[in-house]
Amino acid sequence: MPSPLSDLTLSCIGAGRLGKTLCRLFSEHLSIGQIVNSSQTSANLALDFIGAGTAQTDYANLQPADIWLIATPDNHIAKASAALENCGVLRDTDTVFHCSGSLTADALGLDLYSTASVHPIHSFANPDNSLAQFAGTACAVEGQPEACIVLEGLFAKIGGRPFAIQTQHKSLYHAATVMTCNYLVSLMALGEQMLNAAGVDLLAMDRNPLEPLIRQTVDNYLSTDAISALTGPIARGDNSTVEAHLLALQGQPDLWQTVYRAMGNATLELSAHQGQACADNLAIISNLLNSDNQ
Ligand SMILES: NC(=O)c1ccc[n+]([C@@H]2O[C@H](COP(=O)([O-])OP(=O)(O)OC[C@H]3O[C@@H](n4cnc5c(N)ncnc54)[C@H](OP(=O)(O)O)[C@@H]3O)[C@@H](O)[C@H]2O)c1
Repeated sequence: MPSPLSDLTLSCIGAGRLGKTLCRLFSEHLSIGQIVNSSQTSANLALDFIGAGTAQTDYANLQPADIWLIATPDNHIAKASAALENCGVLRDTDTVFHCSGSLTADALGLDLYSTASVHPIHSFANPDNSLAQFAGTACAVEGQPEACIVLEGLFAKIGGRPFAIQTQHKSLYHAATVMTCNYLVSLMALGEQMLNAAGVDLLAMDRNPLEPLIRQTVDNYLSTDAISALTGPIARGDNSTVEAHLLALQGQPDLWQTVYRAMGNATLELSAHQGQACADNLAIISNLLNSDNQ
């Protein structure tokens, strides 16, 4: 029979943006033990923010805890985890987890303990905002079943929406989040460069002229699905427009053409499912997008 959360203690190694935000949220539901940072000053600042626990920088002074959150930067997780194990405070009933999006629980290197990774799909850039906005955040949970059960319960308590991701798919999952969020920014930045090359002086305008269209598109996609949200020349099967685009891209940076063609191919697949364009026109567009001399 697992202990109720309120009987458990959680200690955090690396209470930076994510660590201190989660600890503050967790503090409503369990006891916060020790807050371990590299520097005493930052440990004290984290403690002020969390409003519970004790600050620590020396692993030799660690006290037992039921749950250990290792929230150092990704490239310090293995080192912090090894230091935790080496100081001898871990018990075989403890749960240890990190919150990296790209690493699995194996990165902790703690084969003898119950370990997991929980990746909240949230930006903790501003911890005060995150306290107010965390509820509703989807959290990808991966690792040993016992650890996952404990952490799914804990994250659900603070308003998270835990879902399981298999260990062998963690990198693919993370690539999906990077492609959807980070690359969306890159795509919009490329679009701005193309507008500038087309003589649209964005700096002279008080607002990006694409802004309403970008917001409508994202809203449509999120409130319906890709098939319903897709519009434009490929969805209509307008091959002459695609041909004109490819001609206009000649002499422009190679990257613009490469991205246009790759995203065009992805759009072709959606258009075929959507069924608005006739198959012949989509075949012509496919030839245009995938031939070298366009
Ligand atoms: N930030 C986000 O939006 C976000 C989102 C999802 C997941 N994550 C994940 O959350 C984790 C933490 O990211 P973050 O952005 O919160 O990092 P961060 O703000 O840079 O904070 C890292 C903290 O780790 C401490 N630290 C570094 N090495 C340490 C060590 N060996 N022992 C003890 N403490 C150590 C630092 O202490 P000092 O201040 O004393 O140097 C700092 O307080 C990462 O795994 C990241 O991938 C972050």
